[in-house]
Amino acid sequence: MISYKDLGLVNSREIFAKAMKGGYAIPAFNFNNMEQLQAIIQACVETKSPVILQVSSGARKYANQTLLRYMAQGAVEYAKELGYNIPIVLHLDHGDSFELCKSCIDFGFSSVMIDGSHLPYDENVALTKKVVEYAHKHDVTVEGELGVLAGVEDEVSAEQHTYTRPEEVQDFVSKTGVDSLAISIGTSHGAFKFKPGQKPEIRLDILYEIEKRLPGFPIVLHGSSSVPQDIVAEINKYGGALKDSIGIPEEQLRAAAKSAVCKINIDSDGRLAMTAAVRKVFAEKPEEFDPRKYLGPARDKLKELYKHKVINVLGSNDKA
Ligand code: G3H
Ligand code: 13P
Ligand code: ZN
Repeated sequence: MISYKDLGLVNSREIFAKAMKGGYAIPAFNFNNMEQLQAIIQACVETKSPVILQVSSGARKYANQTLLRYMAQGAVEYAKELGYNIPIVLHLDHGDSFELCKSCIDFGFSSVMIDGSHLPYDENVALTKKVVEYAHKHDVTVEGELGVLAGVEDEVSAEQHTYTRPEEVQDFVSKTGVDSLAISIGTSHGAFKFKPGQKPEIRLDILYEIEKRLPGFPIVLHGSSSVPQDIVAEINKYGGALKDSIGIPEEQLRAAAKSAVCKINIDSDGRLAMTAAVRKVFAEKPEEFDPRKYLGPARDKLKELYKHKVINVLGSNDKA
């Protein structure tokens, strides 16, 4: 059993409480490799923001859970070396079983998500409660989910959003004991969130209704990439073929961050930024073959994107 506390990591309880009071949200950025992790830490140190490092099942398969955990442990020291001791949470993104959550908790994660959103309500309650009971014994915080996002979530795909039903949230939170709740209000995973002609709009009215029923309770938004059109254009300019990629307008996320939303998940925008930078190098310098010469610029572009998110979308700058 390895406790995250011995690794210098923190759980999400205190940073969420502060975010709730301060009207901002904590960035939750996914990482799968060293360059992504460096960009996240550099951006959050330079903006003095707390950060949640997220590891998905896909990341565990790609990079190996052991390696990722040691990298997060290293990130604590790396942040200090860069000059600022920011709060860092290591979080399991979209955990799909009790066993997976337990293995992450036992291995030094400070926070886990148990995503039972695709299960019948009572099964979601039972699974989430079981994870919470184990996690809380180790002072690890737990995120649950109610409602299903359209698109692919947790390797389950849904054609349409099943919005979170505000009338269920109090019952779910009190029966499970979760520390935060991910909700479905029109965000979705990936770079194609709306069809052309569709108004890119999330249901802030549902969020406010949930907030009324759970005053002061931390809410999480998944699928919150904005798919910056200048980055999409750059990808396409340098040989990419992304068509009709549309994301969540940043001002809607900013409004959500001012409310009970304490955690905003962003992954796809980072993928787009890295892709644009790598494509540019390949197009302009076809003779280049040193990975540092294309992953370096990708890391720089990612860092700039994350700094922009922290300052202009999350509002978590200077809150570390
Ligand atoms: O929830 C989705 C995240 O963007 C992680 O994606 O499962 O491809 O690593 P992934
Ligand atoms: P995006 O695909 O919109 O970046 O969402 C990421 C996410 O929700 C990770 O859990
Ligand atoms: Zn997600």
